[in-house]
Amino acid sequence: MFHTSYIEINKPALTSNLRFLKRLTGPDVRFCSVIKGNAYGHGIEHFLPLAEECGVDYFAVHSADEALRALMARRKESHIMIMGMIDDDQVSWAVENDISFYVFEFGRLEAAIYAARKQNKKARIHLELETGMNRIGFAWEERDRLAGLLVRNLDHLHIMGICTHYAGAESIANYLRIQNQIANFNRYYWYLRKKGARADMKHTACSAPLISYPHTKMDMVRIGIMQYGYWSSKEMQMHYMMQNGKSKMTDNPLRQIISWKSSIMSIKKVPAGEFVGYGTVYQTTDDTLIATVPVGYSHGFSRSLSNLGKVLVHGRRVPVIGMVNMNMMIVDVSHCPGVKREDEVVLIGSQRNNRITVSSFSDMVNHVNYESLVRLPREIPRFILE
Ligand SMILES: Cc1ncc(COP(=O)(O)O)c(C=O)c1O
Repeated sequence: MFHTSYIEINKPALTSNLRFLKRLTGPDVRFCSVIKGNAYGHGIEHFLPLAEECGVDYFAVHSADEALRALMARRKESHIMIMGMIDDDQVSWAVENDISFYVFEFGRLEAAIYAARKQNKKARIHLELETGMNRIGFAWEERDRLAGLLVRNLDHLHIMGICTHYAGAESIANYLRIQNQIANFNRYYWYLRKKGARADMKHTACSAPLISYPHTKMDMVRIGIMQYGYWSSKEMQMHYMMQNGKSKMTDNPLRQIISWKSSIMSIKKVPAGEFVGYGTVYQTTDDTLIATVPVGYSHGFSRSLSNLGKVLVHGRRVPVIGMVNMNMMIVDVSHCPGVKREDEVVLIGSQRNNRITVSSFSDMVNHVNYESLVRLPREIPRFILE
């Protein structure tokens, strides 16, 4: 192997997560798989065809560059939707390739109409409404101008969706704000509809509202984190368990689909009382057997895990000692008899009966799972476990 670590993607786990999600959404709600952020670190080129094999045919990305990658990676006629950034210059490319995109301000709407007219082909758009997140979206005050422009240009626009995004449905602390967003969305949706701007679908829910406000499923859900095997927050997991009469945390229907592995690069003995690695961050108290693992913060293993992280060697959780370096870390393997160079090191995933979850890893450095996952560099090779 030319790389110092590799990632495995577990197809049976993905199949099981998607089956669970389909049970939650029900048969009449479309499932859109969110693969922005390099498919949450899993790799668009690996994840998308795998999800297609599991029956997914609708994918959401953030930007035009990700849409291009998705287009090249797809093996079927799956639909691709851009939820964030696309330059006006690329709008015509999107129209040509049947890629739909969010429209949340007049400049982009005009660019869509212009590109559609030029190509004599309708632009496929999703109208994003500002309902209270205060990020992107057409404001309620813009409704007359918006409805007018849409209705005058229906020959050039295919309104695939009317949508919004909630500002933190994974926490009960945002309950009132979300309720207002739902009400604002419905009011705006019906206003546009009465004015003649009809859409194929309305869609507002991502993973958290699917659990906490299931009536927001509407016509399509845009699911990211849960398909990869994680709850949006512990609160959402508890919510699901309470609603479904589950009492043990082990009753978790979601399975983490990623594992991240490396191997031992070097082993040596360090006497008691010595500092290990840079500076004085870690001093041995006993004679210690240390192993160097060729993964560091340039590979997405946070420097904040210095003296804090754990990895698996011979099925045991062993501590990271000293600073995580750019390209390597040092772990204490004193309690792994027979340990040798090239033995497997699990950074995320299972070994024998032990397991390092992304959450355990994220919690230590105060990251959300989303952040720990997307930090996994694109260059690390990915393999599919069938
Ligand atoms: C607009 C939009 N929809 C859907 C998602 C997917 O969210 P999740 O990963 O929580 O399911 C995101 C992610 O942040 C998003 O920005």
